[in-house]
Amino acid sequence: MSSTENLAARVVAWQKQHGRHHLPWQQQRTPYRVWLSEIMLQQTQVTTVIDYYQRFLERFPTVADLASATQDDVMPYWAGLGYYARARNLHRCAQQVMSDHGGEFPPCSEQLATLPGIGRSTAAAIASFCFGERSPIMDGNVKRVFTRYFGIHGHPQQRQIELKLWALAEETVERSPADLDMAAYTQGLMDLGSMLCTRSKPNCQQCPLVSDCYAHANQQTAELPTRKPRAVQPERECHVVIVESDGHVLLEQRPDHGIWGGLWTLPQFETVGDLKDFSQSLGITLPKDSRMAAMLHVFSHFKLHINPWFVQSTDTIERSANHHWVPLEALPNAALPAPIRKLMDGLYPSPETEAATLF
Ligand code: ADE
Repeated sequence: MSSTENLAARVVAWQKQHGRHHLPWQQQRTPYRVWLSEIMLQQTQVTTVIDYYQRFLERFPTVADLASATQDDVMPYWAGLGYYARARNLHRCAQQVMSDHGGEFPPCSEQLATLPGIGRSTAAAIASFCFGERSPIMDGNVKRVFTRYFGIHGHPQQRQIELKLWALAEETVERSPADLDMAAYTQGLMDLGSMLCTRSKPNCQQCPLVSDCYAHANQQTAELPTRKPRAVQPERECHVVIVESDGHVLLEQRPDHGIWGGLWTLPQFETVGDLKDFSQSLGITLPKDSRMAAMLHVFSHFKLHINPWFVQSTDTIERSANHHWVPLEALPNAALPAPIRKLMDGLYPSPETEAATLF
């Protein structure tokens, strides 16, 4: 029978033997490093995060370094990870740690959760990893483990289901031994969710909880967690233009809020008419063959069809208010959104990307 009893101790014993111990953020568990990794891992997989994490730490080794940088310094180190509000909150959070907490992350989840970008689960993860606090996490992985183990039906993002899961998480910690290794428990739940209790084809045979798991006993691992009814994803279309002139391309910075906020991207338009008006304002006529193959980019809540256009101009074009001529050599370091990065790397391969395509 599924029960909160012994659950945490079994997870800890399994984590110590079979869990992950060599992730970069497990090596020096300082609040800054753990916080940075947890924010990067909120919507992105471990394999993607590792490189970003290491590059970010090299450039901003301490919270003070990050706080004193500008948002424009930070964005190139986040570009490609998506969900850019995370990077803006990360920067604001670092500044708040410096201004309101004397440069030290507060040592408890309640105070951590008051900082920008740190929700209840992230606060508990930082506090349990760094300070051994007995606060449970409840991220996507843990929701999968708990809904299966306890047999909780209903979509986990529904308020009452989420509250039920949090209550079970709290009870599990309360009923665990006083000397429970909280860092191993928190990591164990994450590892269990991503290594064994996967969305499809879970490896129940290796699971330390199999003997009491509701979903396993009732053959419901495919049904749990309950899926959200699929909303039809809206589709949008846009036109972007690559204007190349004298070894430079024209880029513009997106406003701070909204999609790609703060990143640099190509001039973007909703209609071909708007694109043509813009080109004319630069004194360029778009030849018929300047349209390139369309690309599809899938965001979490809509699909974007991107129609790129390419035009080369030999005339000197004046710089306008929010457009900047960026030298082609500077493109590899520009904070471009993922699909624009792909487009530009295809058009202007740097020695590094050229080498990568050879293998
Ligand atoms: N996902 C979220 N936090 C994580 C962590 N610390 N290790 C591995 N995966 C995670």
